[in-house]
Amino acid sequence: MAKRWLRGNILDFSGDPFLSDRPDDCLTVLEDGMLAIEDGLIAWLGPAAEARPAPGEEVAHHPGALITPGLIDAHVHYPQSQMIGAFGEQLLEWLETYTFPTEAKFRDAAHSRRVAGLFLDELLRNGVTTACVYATSSVESVDAFFAEAESRGLRMAAGKVLMDRNAPAELLDGPGMGIEESRALIARWHGRGRLLYAVTPRFAPTSSPAQLKAAGRLWAEHPGTLMQTHLSENLAEIDWVRSLFPDRADYLDVYHQAGLTGRGAIFGHGVHLSEAEFCRCHQTGSALAHCPTSNLFLGSGLFPLHEAKRRDRPVCVALGSDIGAGTSLSPLRTMGEAYKVAALQGRRLPAAQAWWLATRGGAEAMGLEDRIGRIALGYEADLVVWDLAPNPFARQRMEAARNWPERLFVAMTQGEARPLEVLISRPAPGSA
Ligand code: GUN
Ligand code: ZN
Repeated sequence: MAKRWLRGNILDFSGDPFLSDRPDDCLTVLEDGMLAIEDGLIAWLGPAAEARPAPGEEVAHHPGALITPGLIDAHVHYPQSQMIGAFGEQLLEWLETYTFPTEAKFRDAAHSRRVAGLFLDELLRNGVTTACVYATSSVESVDAFFAEAESRGLRMAAGKVLMDRNAPAELLDGPGMGIEESRALIARWHGRGRLLYAVTPRFAPTSSPAQLKAAGRLWAEHPGTLMQTHLSENLAEIDWVRSLFPDRADYLDVYHQAGLTGRGAIFGHGVHLSEAEFCRCHQTGSALAHCPTSNLFLGSGLFPLHEAKRRDRPVCVALGSDIGAGTSLSPLRTMGEAYKVAALQGRRLPAAQAWWLATRGGAEAMGLEDRIGRIALGYEADLVVWDLAPNPFARQRMEAARNWPERLFVAMTQGEARPLEVLISRPAPGSA
């Protein structure tokens, strides 16, 4: 099959910028580079001067543009698209007032398809090619999401929200039902094309201990599936969990005792974790999704990123928009807010670390680090070609940046960069 070629400035990392004393040195940009895509995978990568496209092979040349891996949103609720920026509440009241009524509409398959399609198109418009997504407790909401993702050829993970208490009756799973519905959804969607299933208990307060345990068993029975839930986002929530689970050592212990920690577990937020909880995340290989626009918007708190990434017990951290508590689907804006959250704690977030979180961090959290999140030979060709300065004012700022770390930092603090093109890996029919 003919290769397709792409030419421009190509971003990669030479190492983990959280492990380096000079994080921005870990950023590499191959200027005037070229890559070839064959069967949906990156089949050649190097300086344009050394590339040898065969006669007739298409070469898309984007001089001045930056080519990056597709970005990864590790925590987002597609059904909350219509309630982004809802006024005036903190987490628990916000769930009651806005979230549950909004999610109740997703028993309607047509509504689910419409919202899912618009959501995925908006992710792509922001350079996001992979996400770990909460549907609602309705099976229809999950089928709709996966169908829309499949029709776009996207690598997406999603799951049915499990909840059997402390929410409106119309959203609750009947006894045992949520697990059985999840099992059927795994059979229907997990591993189909590029889709992955995520076992999704909403958070400890809305699942009975029995449902959490059953979710842990279901996850263990299906290796390769993910597990996502919320953890230590808000102080009132943490108090509530303590009163609901008085025998557990801490919030994370509620999940751990139910078999819900380990590689492939993605905990949203983790704003108020103790040292023991960070250690347990590290030991179990569980990941945290840092959702700065959400934590600021709901007044939840400041995620201690540098504490999480402490080099003697680093925790895997990814970035999440957490729409609809978050305020933007743009990972650039999310990175920019992550910088401010770090700054409010007297810390810095260099461009290399922020872009790492939105690419490699997300891939590692989802157990996909050998497939996505890098531009390297054999990786899936989910790629974004960025116009870093799409208007004269942004160009004026970008031209004052002296090197790639500065350009990437301006891109994340200004949020003006726009994808010129988003390429999605498309394996030839019949190839692995
Ligand atoms: N905790 C439980 N459910 C939710 C949700 O939908 N959004 C956020 N931000 N936190 C939650
Ligand atoms: Zn969330």
